[in-house]
Amino acid sequence: MSKTVLITGASSGIGRATALLFQKQGWNVAATMRSPEKETELSKLPNVLCARLDVTNLSSIPKAIDDTLAHFKSVDVVVNNAGYALIGPFEASTPEQIERQFATNLFGVTEVTRAILPYFRETKNGTIINVTSMGGRITFPFYSLYHATKWAVEGFSESLLFELKPLGIRVKLVEPGPIRTDFYSRSMVIMNKPELEAYDELITRAMPNMQESGVKGASPEAVAKVIYRAATDNSWRLRYPVGSTAGLLLFLRRILPDRAFNGIIRRAVFR
Ligand SMILES: NC(=O)c1ccc[n+]([C@@H]2O[C@H](COP(=O)([O-])OP(=O)(O)OC[C@H]3O[C@@H](n4cnc5c(N)ncnc54)[C@H](OP(=O)(O)O)[C@@H]3O)[C@@H](O)[C@H]2O)c1
Repeated sequence: MSKTVLITGASSGIGRATALLFQKQGWNVAATMRSPEKETELSKLPNVLCARLDVTNLSSIPKAIDDTLAHFKSVDVVVNNAGYALIGPFEASTPEQIERQFATNLFGVTEVTRAILPYFRETKNGTIINVTSMGGRITFPFYSLYHATKWAVEGFSESLLFELKPLGIRVKLVEPGPIRTDFYSRSMVIMNKPELEAYDELITRAMPNMQESGVKGASPEAVAKVIYRAATDNSWRLRYPVGSTAGLLLFLRRILPDRAFNGIIRRAVFR
Protein backbone atom coordinates (compact mmCIF):
# COMPACT_ATOMS: atom_id res chain seq x y z
CA MET A 1 0.00 0.00 0.00
CA SER A 2 1.31 3.48 -0.86
CA LYS A 3 2.37 5.70 2.00
CA THR A 4 0.78 9.09 2.61
CA VAL A 5 2.39 12.45 3.34
CA LEU A 6 0.51 15.52 4.54
CA ILE A 7 2.25 18.83 3.79
CA THR A 8 1.30 22.30 5.04
CA GLY A 9 1.89 25.36 2.84
CA ALA A 10 1.94 23.28 -0.35
CA SER A 11 0.77 26.14 -2.59
CA SER A 12 4.29 27.35 -3.41
CA GLY A 13 8.03 27.04 -2.91
CA ILE A 14 9.37 24.23 -0.74
CA GLY A 15 5.94 22.79 0.13
CA ARG A 16 4.92 22.58 -3.51
CA ALA A 17 8.24 21.05 -4.64
CA THR A 18 7.89 18.50 -1.82
CA ALA A 19 4.35 17.59 -2.88
CA LEU A 20 5.51 17.09 -6.47
CA LEU A 21 8.50 14.93 -5.46
CA PHE A 22 6.54 12.62 -3.14
CA GLN A 23 3.82 12.24 -5.80
CA LYS A 24 6.46 11.31 -8.37
CA GLN A 25 7.85 8.73 -5.95
CA GLY A 26 4.45 7.02 -5.78
CA TRP A 27 3.22 8.43 -2.47
CA ASN A 28 -0.28 9.64 -1.73
CA VAL A 29 -0.01 13.38 -1.10
CA ALA A 30 -2.31 15.58 0.96
CA ALA A 31 -1.12 18.95 -0.35
CA THR A 32 -2.71 21.29 2.16
CA MET A 33 -3.00 25.02 1.60
CA ARG A 34 -4.99 28.09 2.54
CA SER A 35 -6.73 28.42 -0.83
CA PRO A 36 -7.02 25.03 -2.57
CA GLU A 37 -9.60 26.50 -4.97
CA LYS A 38 -6.74 28.45 -6.63
CA GLU A 39 -4.60 25.35 -7.24
CA THR A 40 -4.53 24.22 -10.86
CA GLU A 41 -1.52 21.87 -11.17
CA LEU A 42 -1.35 19.66 -8.08
CA SER A 43 -5.08 19.06 -8.07
CA LYS A 44 -4.85 17.42 -11.51
CA LEU A 45 -2.25 14.84 -10.47
CA PRO A 46 -3.20 11.30 -9.47
CA ASN A 47 -2.99 10.48 -5.75
CA VAL A 48 -2.97 14.13 -4.73
CA LEU A 49 -5.63 15.62 -2.49
CA CYS A 50 -5.60 19.41 -2.21
CA ALA A 51 -7.12 20.10 1.20
CA ARG A 52 -7.83 23.39 2.92
CA LEU A 53 -5.58 24.03 5.92
CA ASP A 54 -4.70 27.40 7.36
CA VAL A 55 -2.38 26.69 10.28
CA THR A 56 -3.77 29.73 12.14
CA ASN A 57 -7.34 28.47 11.77
CA LEU A 58 -7.41 25.77 14.41
CA SER A 59 -10.57 24.02 13.23
CA SER A 60 -9.11 23.58 9.73
CA ILE A 61 -6.32 21.33 11.08
CA PRO A 62 -8.27 18.26 12.33
CA LYS A 63 -10.62 18.68 9.37
CA ALA A 64 -7.74 18.41 6.86
CA ILE A 65 -6.33 15.38 8.72
CA ASP A 66 -9.75 13.68 8.79
CA ASP A 67 -10.26 14.39 5.08
CA THR A 68 -6.82 12.90 4.34
CA LEU A 69 -7.54 9.77 6.40
CA ALA A 70 -10.94 9.36 4.75
CA HIS A 71 -9.36 9.73 1.29
CA PHE A 72 -6.11 7.76 1.63
CA LYS A 73 -6.81 5.62 4.77
CA SER A 74 -3.44 6.50 6.35
CA VAL A 75 -1.01 9.28 7.18
CA ASP A 76 2.63 8.24 7.54
CA VAL A 77 4.50 11.55 7.38
CA VAL A 78 3.52 15.12 8.26
CA VAL A 79 5.63 17.99 6.90
CA ASN A 80 5.13 21.23 8.85
CA ASN A 81 6.33 23.67 6.21
CA ALA A 82 3.93 26.67 6.21
CA GLY A 83 5.64 29.84 7.32
CA TYR A 84 6.74 33.36 6.51
CA ALA A 85 9.21 35.96 7.76
CA LEU A 86 8.42 39.10 9.70
CA ILE A 87 11.47 41.30 9.23
CA GLY A 88 12.78 44.71 10.16
CA PRO A 89 13.86 46.36 13.42
CA PHE A 90 12.14 44.78 16.43
CA GLU A 91 11.06 48.23 17.65
CA ALA A 92 8.95 48.66 14.54
CA SER A 93 6.85 45.56 15.29
CA THR A 94 3.33 45.60 16.67
CA PRO A 95 2.01 42.99 19.14
CA GLU A 96 -0.44 41.85 16.44
CA GLN A 97 2.39 41.24 13.97
CA ILE A 98 4.28 39.23 16.58
CA GLU A 99 1.18 37.18 17.44
CA ARG A 100 0.61 36.34 13.78
CA GLN A 101 4.27 35.37 13.28
CA PHE A 102 4.15 32.99 16.24
CA ALA A 103 0.64 31.74 15.34
CA THR A 104 1.89 30.70 11.92
CA ASN A 105 5.49 29.56 12.42
CA LEU A 106 5.29 28.07 15.94
CA PHE A 107 1.69 27.38 16.98
CA GLY A 108 0.94 26.16 13.45
CA VAL A 109 3.55 23.45 14.08
CA THR A 110 2.43 22.61 17.62
CA GLU A 111 -1.26 22.40 16.65
CA VAL A 112 -0.73 20.23 13.56
CA THR A 113 1.47 18.01 15.74
CA ARG A 114 -1.18 17.86 18.47
CA ALA A 115 -3.81 16.87 15.91
CA ILE A 116 -1.81 14.03 14.32
CA LEU A 117 -0.30 12.49 17.47
CA PRO A 118 -3.31 10.41 18.61
CA TYR A 119 -3.31 8.72 15.19
CA PHE A 120 0.48 8.20 15.17
CA ARG A 121 0.30 6.75 18.72
CA GLU A 122 -2.45 4.37 17.71
CA THR A 123 -0.51 3.15 14.67
CA LYS A 124 2.82 3.18 16.63
CA ASN A 125 4.34 4.76 13.58
CA GLY A 126 4.73 8.16 11.95
CA THR A 127 7.25 10.88 11.15
CA ILE A 128 6.89 14.60 11.84
CA ILE A 129 9.21 16.74 9.73
CA ASN A 130 9.44 20.38 10.76
CA VAL A 131 10.91 22.80 8.23
CA THR A 132 12.83 25.31 10.31
CA SER A 133 15.89 27.04 8.86
CA MET A 134 19.60 27.45 9.45
CA GLY A 135 18.05 30.51 11.13
CA GLY A 136 16.75 28.11 13.79
CA ARG A 137 20.30 27.77 15.10
CA ILE A 138 22.04 30.99 14.02
CA THR A 139 20.76 34.55 13.57
CA PHE A 140 20.92 37.49 11.19
CA PRO A 141 20.13 41.18 11.80
CA PHE A 142 16.51 42.35 11.49
CA TYR A 143 15.07 38.82 11.66
CA SER A 144 14.71 38.72 15.47
CA LEU A 145 11.05 37.64 15.58
CA TYR A 146 11.37 35.12 12.74
CA HIS A 147 14.38 33.59 14.51
CA ALA A 148 12.43 33.51 17.77
CA THR A 149 9.85 31.27 16.08
CA LYS A 150 12.35 29.01 14.32
CA TRP A 151 14.55 28.59 17.41
CA ALA A 152 11.35 27.75 19.29
CA VAL A 153 10.44 25.04 16.77
CA GLU A 154 13.97 23.63 17.07
CA GLY A 155 13.67 23.40 20.86
CA PHE A 156 10.14 22.03 20.66
CA SER A 157 11.18 19.33 18.19
CA GLU A 158 14.38 18.31 19.97
CA SER A 159 12.54 17.89 23.27
CA LEU A 160 9.55 16.16 21.65
CA LEU A 161 11.78 13.46 20.19
CA PHE A 162 12.68 12.28 23.73
CA GLU A 163 9.04 11.52 24.50
CA LEU A 164 7.96 10.25 21.08
CA LYS A 165 10.88 7.94 20.25
CA PRO A 166 9.77 5.33 22.81
CA LEU A 167 6.35 5.34 21.06
CA GLY A 168 7.92 4.70 17.64
CA ILE A 169 7.27 8.24 16.32
CA ARG A 170 10.08 10.13 14.59
CA VAL A 171 10.67 13.91 14.76
CA LYS A 172 12.96 15.56 12.22
CA LEU A 173 14.15 19.07 11.47
CA VAL A 174 14.95 20.20 7.94
CA GLU A 175 17.06 23.36 8.08
CA PRO A 176 17.41 25.14 4.74
CA GLY A 177 19.84 27.98 4.04
CA PRO A 178 18.67 30.59 1.49
CA ILE A 179 16.24 29.06 -1.03
CA ARG A 180 14.84 30.76 -4.16
CA THR A 181 11.13 30.98 -3.36
CA ASP A 182 8.40 33.53 -2.65
CA PHE A 183 9.86 33.71 0.87
CA TYR A 184 11.86 36.79 -0.18
CA SER A 185 8.90 38.53 -1.80
CA ARG A 186 5.24 37.94 -1.04
CA SER A 187 5.96 35.84 2.09
CA MET A 188 8.03 38.58 3.70
CA VAL A 189 6.24 41.05 5.97
CA ILE A 190 8.36 44.14 6.48
CA MET A 191 8.02 46.04 9.74
CA ASN A 192 8.39 49.72 9.21
CA LYS A 193 7.88 52.86 11.26
CA PRO A 194 9.08 55.91 9.30
CA GLU A 195 9.80 57.81 12.52
CA LEU A 196 12.37 55.15 13.54
CA GLU A 197 15.22 56.71 11.62
CA ALA A 198 17.86 55.32 13.98
CA TYR A 199 17.94 52.02 12.05
CA ASP A 200 17.85 53.45 8.52
CA GLU A 201 21.56 53.28 7.78
CA LEU A 202 21.95 49.69 9.01
CA ILE A 203 18.87 48.56 7.13
CA THR A 204 20.05 50.20 3.94
CA ARG A 205 23.34 48.31 4.23
CA ALA A 206 21.89 44.95 5.28
CA MET A 207 18.79 44.42 3.18
CA PRO A 208 20.34 44.25 -0.33
CA ASN A 209 22.89 41.71 0.92
CA MET A 210 20.25 39.51 2.52
CA GLN A 211 17.94 39.73 -0.50
CA GLU A 212 20.90 38.81 -2.72
CA SER A 213 21.50 35.63 -0.75
CA GLY A 214 17.89 34.64 -1.52
CA VAL A 215 18.33 35.24 -5.24
CA LYS A 216 21.50 33.12 -5.22
CA GLY A 217 19.95 30.46 -3.00
CA ALA A 218 19.40 26.77 -3.68
CA SER A 219 16.26 25.51 -5.38
CA PRO A 220 13.13 24.40 -3.51
CA GLU A 221 13.61 21.01 -5.19
CA ALA A 222 16.89 20.62 -3.27
CA VAL A 223 14.97 21.01 -0.01
CA ALA A 224 12.27 18.60 -1.22
CA LYS A 225 14.95 15.96 -1.80
CA VAL A 226 16.22 16.34 1.76
CA ILE A 227 12.68 16.19 3.15
CA TYR A 228 12.15 12.99 1.14
CA ARG A 229 15.38 11.54 2.55
CA ALA A 230 14.34 12.47 6.08
CA ALA A 231 10.99 10.74 5.49
CA THR A 232 12.47 7.53 4.13
CA ASP A 233 15.90 6.94 5.67
CA ASN A 234 14.46 4.95 8.59
CA SER A 235 16.84 6.71 10.97
CA TRP A 236 16.32 8.60 14.21
CA ARG A 237 18.53 11.46 12.96
CA LEU A 238 17.07 14.78 14.11
CA ARG A 239 18.66 17.50 11.96
CA TYR A 240 19.05 17.84 8.17
CA PRO A 241 20.68 21.12 7.04
CA VAL A 242 20.11 21.92 3.34
CA GLY A 243 22.55 23.67 0.99
CA SER A 244 26.18 24.69 1.15
CA THR A 245 25.53 27.97 3.02
CA ALA A 246 23.65 26.19 5.81
CA GLY A 247 26.32 23.46 5.96
CA LEU A 248 29.17 25.96 6.25
CA LEU A 249 27.53 28.39 8.69
CA LEU A 250 26.25 25.62 10.99
CA PHE A 251 29.73 24.08 10.99
CA LEU A 252 31.33 27.43 11.89
CA ARG A 253 28.66 27.98 14.55
CA ARG A 254 29.71 24.67 16.16
CA ILE A 255 33.43 25.37 16.26
CA LEU A 256 33.61 29.15 16.90
CA PRO A 257 32.85 31.12 20.05
CA ASP A 258 29.79 33.44 19.85
CA ARG A 259 31.82 36.58 19.35
CA ALA A 260 33.89 35.25 16.46
CA PHE A 261 30.91 33.67 14.73
CA ASN A 262 28.64 36.71 15.05
CA GLY A 263 31.52 38.91 13.84
CA ILE A 264 31.49 36.93 10.59
CA ILE A 265 27.73 37.44 10.24
CA ARG A 266 28.02 41.16 11.04
CA ARG A 267 30.77 41.69 8.46
CA ALA A 268 28.89 39.70 5.80
CA VAL A 269 25.54 41.46 6.30
CA PHE A 270 26.70 45.05 6.93
CA ARG A 271 29.42 45.03 4.28
N1 LIG B 1 13.14 30.33 1.21
C1 LIG B 1 14.07 30.33 2.16
O1 LIG B 1 15.17 30.91 2.00
C2 LIG B 1 13.84 29.56 3.43
C3 LIG B 1 14.96 29.28 4.23
C4 LIG B 1 14.78 28.60 5.43
C5 LIG B 1 13.52 28.19 5.80
N2 LIG B 1 12.43 28.46 5.00
C6 LIG B 1 11.11 28.01 5.47
O2 LIG B 1 10.52 27.22 4.47
C7 LIG B 1 9.11 27.23 4.63
C8 LIG B 1 8.45 27.43 3.28
O3 LIG B 1 8.83 28.68 2.74
P1 LIG B 1 9.19 28.88 1.20
O4 LIG B 1 10.59 29.29 1.12
O5 LIG B 1 8.72 27.72 0.40
O6 LIG B 1 8.33 30.21 0.87
P2 LIG B 1 6.94 30.37 0.07
O7 LIG B 1 7.09 29.90 -1.31
O8 LIG B 1 6.54 31.78 0.30
O9 LIG B 1 5.94 29.40 0.83
C9 LIG B 1 5.34 29.69 2.05
C10 LIG B 1 4.12 28.82 2.16
O10 LIG B 1 3.57 28.95 3.48
C11 LIG B 1 2.17 29.13 3.31
N3 LIG B 1 1.55 29.77 4.45
C12 LIG B 1 1.80 30.97 5.00
N4 LIG B 1 0.96 31.19 6.02
C13 LIG B 1 0.16 30.10 6.12
C14 LIG B 1 -0.90 29.72 6.96
N5 LIG B 1 -1.36 30.52 7.93
N6 LIG B 1 -1.49 28.51 6.78
C15 LIG B 1 -1.05 27.68 5.79
N7 LIG B 1 -0.09 28.00 4.93
C16 LIG B 1 0.52 29.19 5.10
C17 LIG B 1 2.03 29.94 2.03
O11 LIG B 1 0.70 29.83 1.58
P3 LIG B 1 -0.04 30.95 0.68
O12 LIG B 1 0.25 30.59 -0.75
O13 LIG B 1 -1.48 30.80 1.03
O14 LIG B 1 0.52 32.29 1.07
C18 LIG B 1 3.04 29.22 1.16
O15 LIG B 1 2.49 28.03 0.64
C19 LIG B 1 8.81 28.35 5.65
O16 LIG B 1 8.53 27.75 6.90
C20 LIG B 1 10.11 29.13 5.70
O17 LIG B 1 10.30 29.75 6.96
C21 LIG B 1 12.58 29.13 3.83
